[in-house]
Amino acid sequence: GEMKHKLYEPMRRHTTMLVGGPAQFWLEPTTFVQFQKLTNYLRERSIPLRVIGRGSNLLVRDGGIRGAVIHPKGGEFSEVTVDGNLISAGSGVRFKKITSVAEANGLGDMEWMEGVPGNVGGGLRMNAGAMGWETFDHVVSVTFLDEDGEIRTRTRDEIKTFYRNVPEIRRNFALQATFRGSPADTSSIHQRIAESKQKRRESQPIAASAGCIFKNPAEIPAGKLVDELGMKEASQGNAQVSAAHGNFIINRGKATASDVLELISRIQDKAKTQRNIDLETEVQI
Ligand code: EPU
Repeated sequence: GEMKHKLYEPMRRHTTMLVGGPAQFWLEPTTFVQFQKLTNYLRERSIPLRVIGRGSNLLVRDGGIRGAVIHPKGGEFSEVTVDGNLISAGSGVRFKKITSVAEANGLGDMEWMEGVPGNVGGGLRMNAGAMGWETFDHVVSVTFLDEDGEIRTRTRDEIKTFYRNVPEIRRNFALQATFRGSPADTSSIHQRIAESKQKRRESQPIAASAGCIFKNPAEIPAGKLVDELGMKEASQGNAQVSAAHGNFIINRGKATASDVLELISRIQDKAKTQRNIDLETEVQI
């Protein structure tokens, strides 16, 4: 069938921060082969392409995105299957969904994923984490569309990962992943999910944001640093450092990407001049 597509689609509709200008071509493939044909077509014609999932860790500039944006959604990208202790999920599946499937199947250690706002594809790319866990702690294998246009599955040990970074998912796109859980009793899983939700409610904002803005530097958690620098509630236009957590910037309504970028650089400047710490962004810009 025909692939859903749009021209000049505003990216503020597709990012949790609710900012960002238009993407020139917005495309929604539903099968891995459709995704493959599409990327090969674009690459052969040197049309710039980006893949965007839930847009939860993303800051798109006000000028928008030139070229094509592929949004894996529905069909194979939204499938989840369970086989013993293994859960396989397409790149368009939400992390929250993995937690609920794990709970329903008596698989533990994946409770933290409930707090990750993004989809599997983005979480793999950045090796998302919370509560002392990271995505690749659970990965058994990932199926990629490789740079040469072929679809291949690689096992965990064949993939190099770092804190909030998986360099090879800049060139290859993750289509699906298989995660391993460990059997646990449902009531303790349920309890840990409730605790995780509670902790998040107490320590993170509910307003529109892109999750944590900065990676935690070696010296001190970024949120604590911003707090100590006295920058909580600092604002630029309608972007504001959250009062709940210093590593979140919230959109108070009509913030622009340039408001957010300006606030980010003010924080980075202050961290550098007052504490000599280089704050690196975690959000993709
Ligand atoms: N803190 C402050 N003031 C603040 C914020 C934090 O003093 O404004 C202190 C806290 O009291 C705590 C320490 O800083 O002692 C660390 O804070 P927290 O427990 O909130 O964890 P974090 O390191 O700031 C990380 C992840 C979050 C994840 C939480 C919960 C990074 C960059 N962030 O935050 O992930 O939700 O742990 O496990 O690793 C994200 O990646 O987008 C994200 C939000």
